[in-house]
Amino acid sequence: MPRARTEYVCRECGYRNPRSLGRCPECDAWGSFDEVSQRVAPVTAVRSHAPSAAAARPLRLSEIESADFDRIAVGMDEVGRVLGGGIVRGSLTLIGGDPGVGKSTLLTQLASGVADGARDPVLYVSGEESVAQVGLRARRMGLDAPNLLFLSETDADAIVETVRQTQASVAIIDSIQSVMTQDVDALPGSVSQLRECALRFLQLAKSSGVPIFLVGHVTKDGAIAGPKVLEHMVDTVLYLEGERFNQYRLLRSTKNRFGPTHEVGVFEMQGHGLVEVSNPSAVFLAERARSAAGSVVTVAMEGTRPILQEIQALVSRSSLAMPRRTATGFDANRLHLLTAVLSRRAGVALHDQDVYVNVVGGLRVEEPAADLAAALAIVSSIRDHPLPNDLVALGEIGLSGELRGVGQLEQRLREAAKLGFLRALAPPGARHHIDRRPFDLEVVPVSSVREALSSLGL
Ligand code: TYD
Ligand code: MG
Repeated sequence: MPRARTEYVCRECGYRNPRSLGRCPECDAWGSFDEVSQRVAPVTAVRSHAPSAAAARPLRLSEIESADFDRIAVGMDEVGRVLGGGIVRGSLTLIGGDPGVGKSTLLTQLASGVADGARDPVLYVSGEESVAQVGLRARRMGLDAPNLLFLSETDADAIVETVRQTQASVAIIDSIQSVMTQDVDALPGSVSQLRECALRFLQLAKSSGVPIFLVGHVTKDGAIAGPKVLEHMVDTVLYLEGERFNQYRLLRSTKNRFGPTHEVGVFEMQGHGLVEVSNPSAVFLAERARSAAGSVVTVAMEGTRPILQEIQALVSRSSLAMPRRTATGFDANRLHLLTAVLSRRAGVALHDQDVYVNVVGGLRVEEPAADLAAALAIVSSIRDHPLPNDLVALGEIGLSGELRGVGQLEQRLREAAKLGFLRALAPPGARHHIDRRPFDLEVVPVSSVREALSSLGL
């Protein structure tokens, strides 16, 4: 006889415990335990040698049909690139993002783009909004896809059945936290519901070949709510990011079984939906002031794509015992390191100065390749000496003030040349790019911050 056992599961990380706890020992979340009951089969005393299931047949590599993944065209280049070329049949994709960032907008556009080209309908299931609301949004965005079906439903089993019957070419579930199955005795959004519903959609995708998109909400610390198990289950995890007061949105892939990760697509939120930005470098530099002190451009890699970014610095005399170091879109620890290196290795006195560094356009630069640009911006600001408008700076700065190499240098230089930049300061390793210069850009190799400063007359 199976007996029921009660267990408590953390909503955030999936940690299990026989008792409810105030604070999860695994992820430190407070009040996050949900009760789940489990049926436990009694352990059979003697293990017999009789097989308990028929054996499965493994395949040789040569027996596996490797028709390259059959992809469905998305109709949006930026999304297609992030997915690795299109939507793979039978794939399960999770797309996360803050509330209001534009997940529903993006997926409505995606659904309409696919529906335009597909024979079978695309099914958009909303568990949060009524059909009227979803329809209103689609109309406002000027969409008129006869092949796009809307459904407002929260019962996972009903959704699975509907997807099967409509033979949808793509199904979108907005959101996984709002759906539930009657088989699990817990509230929608709890771990056990998430796990069970996601499993049903996974089985549906794999057995029917219908690609499924799940929208997932993000918790306050930036992870897709619910246990990590959701991210393990799906084939692809995408994040839609953006600042609330900024119209740009970045779509990133953090996991992709069918394509590259860390690829980004750039969009602009407008009155009629998201518009693809195919040349982000030009957009992010559009408002750049000419000849302003404290502004330097660098080229950061977003996935496989180089994007030009403007780094600004403002240095002003501090009235505090411990001067401020404030970074927006830039790593604060790196800023501390750069100010220390500038003081010790380049003779730039910053001990009584507040230093602010900002990456324009609400972007984030994570790479050390932006060090040189940030350091030059700081010195340009303190000396009130504008740097040439047609200059880009690349390179990681080491603790002894030396300039270190950066990856994909040629691609970065090419992008800068494309946008009309004429001069690049780069680490000494860049020398071989000078000999076989495929682009119209003068590359000045510098081996230290001090050398970079003196080459610019700072
Ligand atoms: P939405 O897609 O509902 O966000 P999410 O599903 O991620 O919660 O988008 C919400 C925001 O987008 C809302 O504040 C209004 C804005 N928006 C536009 O600016 N233009 C549009 O065409 C649409 C549909 C939304
Ligand atoms: Mg939404």
